[in-house]
Formats: sequence, structure tokens, C-alpha cells
Amino acid sequence: MEQFSMKFKDLTLQEKCQILTGSREAWCTEDLGGKVPYCRMQDGPSGLMVQGSVSVPCLQNIGNSWSEDAAYLMASIMAEDCIEHEVDVLLAPGVNIKRNNVCGRNFEYVSEDPYLSGILGKHFVNGLQDKGIGATVKHLCANNREYARFTVSSEVDERALHEIYLEPFRIVLESKPWIVMCSYNPLNGWYTSENRPLLKGILRDTFGFDGLIVSDWCAVHDRAKSLKATLDLEMPFAERSEKNLLDAHTRGFITTEEIDESVQRMQDLMDKVEASKAIRPTPRPRQERHNDAIKVAEEGIVLLKNEDGVLPLKNPKRLAVIGQQARYPEVGGGGSSDMSAKHGYDIPFLDRLLKQEYPDCSVRFIGAYKILPHLGFNNREWLEKIAIRDAYESEYSIVCVGDNRVLESEGYDRQSLKLPLVHENLVKHICEVNPNVIVIVTAGSAIDMTAWIDKAKAVIYTSFGGEGINEALCNIITGKTCPSGKLSETFVRSIEDNPINFETGNGFVERYNDGIMVGYKYYEKNNIPVLFPFGYGKSYATFEYSDLKIEKLGDADYNVSYTVTNTSDVDGKEISQLYIKDVFSMVEQPPKALKGFAKTFLKAGESKVITHRLDKQSFSYYSTMLKEWFLEDGWFEIYVGASSADIRLQAKLLVKTDEDQQNSKYDEFYNLPDSTNDTFIV
Ligand code: BGC
Repeated sequence: MEQFSMKFKDLTLQEKCQILTGSREAWCTEDLGGKVPYCRMQDGPSGLMVQGSVSVPCLQNIGNSWSEDAAYLMASIMAEDCIEHEVDVLLAPGVNIKRNNVCGRNFEYVSEDPYLSGILGKHFVNGLQDKGIGATVKHLCANNREYARFTVSSEVDERALHEIYLEPFRIVLESKPWIVMCSYNPLNGWYTSENRPLLKGILRDTFGFDGLIVSDWCAVHDRAKSLKATLDLEMPFAERSEKNLLDAHTRGFITTEEIDESVQRMQDLMDKVEASKAIRPTPRPRQERHNDAIKVAEEGIVLLKNEDGVLPLKNPKRLAVIGQQARYPEVGGGGSSDMSAKHGYDIPFLDRLLKQEYPDCSVRFIGAYKILPHLGFNNREWLEKIAIRDAYESEYSIVCVGDNRVLESEGYDRQSLKLPLVHENLVKHICEVNPNVIVIVTAGSAIDMTAWIDKAKAVIYTSFGGEGINEALCNIITGKTCPSGKLSETFVRSIEDNPINFETGNGFVERYNDGIMVGYKYYEKNNIPVLFPFGYGKSYATFEYSDLKIEKLGDADYNVSYTVTNTSDVDGKEISQLYIKDVFSMVEQPPKALKGFAKTFLKAGESKVITHRLDKQSFSYYSTMLKEWFLEDGWFEIYVGASSADIRLQAKLLVKTDEDQQNSKYDEFYNLPDSTNDTFIV
């Protein structure tokens, strides 16, 4: 940093106001003509948005991987691309909750569950920052649909806000991301960019975040109000920003100290950038990063159905590979993370990869439908007829269908949970003539498969898997890799089963009436059958669970351990999940909530002991009375299983914390100002 004579604190007031908005050069902070350092930011979650970078899977795939290592690896790939292209900060990860199945941006987010989103987000941040690239956690907060995202106020009650929508951010902050990005929407009536209770009150004071807060692009409406809320940097460059701040300073609305605090955080960011340059490794050759992208994609592929063990394919003699997506798979969704035109990688055709693996097999490819780049898919009747004939003549048919970046995109929501009609019909028609149909679904969020799933022999859900998807798929189909992904969001039977479905409020306000019952918590509480539950996914291996043990370590600290055994003759990875139920709570509680998970590699026949650490946070709920997380002593049930609906081991636990500590909480409550007390006692 020596080359810059000027420290940010020595700048004039006007210059200080200038650096609190972006530079005229897109993606960069202001350097005042070289007087001060600047940093370069860039999207995004599915690959660095610079020509030639590796297109990695979308964050849904990371959610489905349930793998801390995959989250870390995926971020490392992008970090290397950042280093190569001189980008200092990546605008990712997004950890918004998938409250609504139709949110156009679900593919960019991790899960419907706050714990899973937070933990994987944390490892993603480490993957970037360990290589000297800053992470930006986004979008704070309650931005859970794209429809009218600039105007609709998410009206969320306090408990749901903390337990569901803020919780992933709280967890990710443990990895000290350099930046948090606010969202576009208002939260409970206040734009998040100007929401002082949210940014200063919760993010900084309660969560202890001392990094930089950046606006989402053009999310600032009034720069002075946003500064008052401690939003440091408005992005991108906004002409009016500097004057807006100076005027507000003159009239006393913002103080010199407030400006200086943000300026100091800008300086801190530049110091981090400078210091991190020393730890940035030389990027490995692109091919190596691509190979890692294949590994990441494999981790998140979910085998949803595998009747009669049809997969992996053993010595097939005649194979029909159907659907243009087998050759031109969609690498990601649309919007600011769209890598489709950026990666430049020549994705190998799935049919050719399979032919290499099965040289004695006749592999036929039939496009069956046309991909319309900026629209969707178009029926080609004569092509479909050829596909049907080929499927009839084949031993197996692999049918590649799904969404694309037009159907799932930032800026608007999905119009249906079903596959495009052309694809649905294709699958049905192929299933009528061939008993061994393997359907490959490429999409970034939940798909309603009820119209055809009973007729298919096997279903593989790939997510938007990035440029390595076909290599990854080939490894799964042939059995070189044992599938190990599990769903990070519930797949409902129909959009009508989702409590929010297409409801959009009135365009200005959307009430979050579902409260804390989001995703699997809602379906379980209301006994709504689903197509595939949260946490579900099959493997070529089989696993058994045994020996649940709970060991008390301290007041509310426990080790929960159990054994998972691979009972098959195939090596594989199992994702075991730990859920907790608060049995007799004084407040409403979900039927179960995820509090731990592990992805474990087990050789055929091997057993391993898995241990999870539970602590006070694991048993607590957010008390709106105490305004903090609170552990209510009592009975809890511990569930360990292969999915939220497949519980294999179960135990009861009486949590009894230190009396004094418990009492002091109540004392605190009873000492609250009278007015608050009255409200409660009624
Ligand atoms: C998106 C952000 C993105 C930014 C910059 C916005 O529209 O919401 O996620 O980082 O654009 O491209």
C-alpha cells in the first residue's frame, strides 16, 4: 500500500463522500485518480463472470451436495479465476432461504433450511478467503422471490426473521466474510439499504459484523439514509450520491463521525485486499480447475429413483440418448450469474462420453426438441417421432430434459413447477415404448414430476451443474462415481401444496404468514405428502445406522454419536442428518429442525462413527420477549436419519441447564420496562 501516499482518513470531506459510491469504471471502487487504492468486484456464484472462467455448478448443487468440502472446493475454483483476472472480491455466496418454490433465483441459493445454508455458506466463504479473495454474503435479507423485488416489502415476524431468514447470515458470519450485501426489497416497510435496525442494530451490533456493507446494485434510494444505516458503499457509481451525502452533512442529518466510520471500513477493505495479495496462490491450469468443477458437480447430483437397480448401466447393448440437452446442457440459471456465454469450454456430448465408456454398445443420439436460446424449448414432431422409434428399438433410453436460464432467472419468478410441456410429453411418450427410461432432469429448483415419474425407471436430478456436468453425469451413469447428493429443498407434488405458491401480496407488501414453518417444517406439521422430502437421495450403496449415544459434556453441550455402515459391495458416501424436536415448548415449534449433518465416505462393508456436537444454540429458539436466543429447559427428541422423512435412530434428552443462568434470563425479562411487561402479561 506504500505507493499510495494518501490514507482514506486524510481525504477531504468531499473526497470521502466520493469514495462511498462506486467508480465510473463498473465493478470497481473509486480511486480518486490514483490517489487511493481501489478494489475490483465481480459476480458471482456460478463462476467468475469474466470471459474464460470456469462455469461451476449453481449453489443449489452445493446445497444438494451437503458437502462442506464441495462448497470450499467450488469457491476455491472461483478464487483462482479471480486471481487470474485480477478480481479482489467475489459477489457470492447467496444464502437467502428458499421459502417459495417458484422464486426465479432459487438456483442461486443453497437451501430451504437456515442451518444447511449457513454451514455450507461458511465453507464457501473460507474457500474464497483462504486464497486471498474476499467474499460477499448476499442478499440481506428476506429477499425470497423475484417478483417486484424492488418494491415488495417482506413483512416478517421477528421470530421467523431471526430463526429462518437471518440465521444463515448469522452462521456465515463466523467465517468473517469481508462484505455483506443488502437486498433490494424493503423489510417490514424499510428498504434494507436504509434499514438501520437491520444493518446497524442486528448485523453490526448483535452479530458483531465489522466488515463492509455494500448495496445490491442500484438498491440505494437515499444515500444519506443508507449511510445513517451504516451502509458503507453504494454500488455501482451513482451520480447523485456524493451531493446527497454532502447536503445531508450540511443540514446535520449525518455527522462527520458517521462518514468517517464508513470511510474507515473502506480503508479496512483496501488493507485486507493488500494483505491478501501475499497469500494468493498462482492459479493452476484451467484444466485442473475444470476437473475440480466435475468433482463438485458429482457431489450435488441426486439420484431420485432407481427401480430394479437399473443404474449404473452394466454392459448396455443399445442406448438411445434423447434430447438436445444431452449435448447442450444448461450450465446455470439466468441473470447476473449467467455463465453460459462466458466459460468458453467445449462441453463434451453426453452420448459421445457414453460411447467411450461402452465401446461395444450402439449409442444413438436424437435431439427430439429444439432449444430456443432466449425462450425455452420447441417441439419438433418429426424429431420426437424418430426419438420414439429409437427408444423402442433400444435397451435403455436416457432422456435429457429440464429448465433453462430463461425459465429460471433473476428478475422474475417461475411460472410453473412442471417441466416444459414439450419435455413432459417427450418423457411420457418415450416411457410408453421403452421400459428402461432414465430421465436426467437439469434444473435449479424443485420440479413437479408427478405427471411422469411413475413411468420412468430411474431419475437423476443434476441441478444446473456447470461446464463439467456431462463428465459428472457420465461418471454417475457408468458407476465410476456413486451418487451421493440429497435434496436441500422439498420437492412437492404440486405447486398448490406450497403454502405460498403463486401468491405475491399486492406488489407492495407480502406477509410471511408461514412464520417459522418453512419448507419441510411446514409439510410435516400439516401432514402434506410430498414427492421427495428434504434430505432425500439414493445411492448405489446401502447404509445402516446403529448405536446412537449421547454424552453430556457441559451445561447444554452434548456429543451425539452413532455408527453408519456401508452394507453393500459398492464404495459410497452417505449424508446422515441430525434433527431436533423441542417437545413441550412454551412457544410454537417445528416438528423437527436440522441441527447437524455429515457426509461420510465408506468403503464397501466399512463402518464409521459419526459425532455431532450440540450446544446451547442447537436447543434454543429466538425469544421475541427477551430479544435473543433462549434455551428453555425440557425434553428434546434427537432424530438421526438418512432424510427428514427417514429417521433411523431416535433418543429423548432432558436438557436442564444451570438454574442460576436460567433464572437470570427470567429476571432479565421481569426487569424489562413496565410497558413491555404489560404487553406480555395480558
Ligand atoms: C444482483 C446481485 C449481483 C449484482 C451485480 C444484482 O442485480 O441482485 O446478486 O451481485 O446485481 O451484478
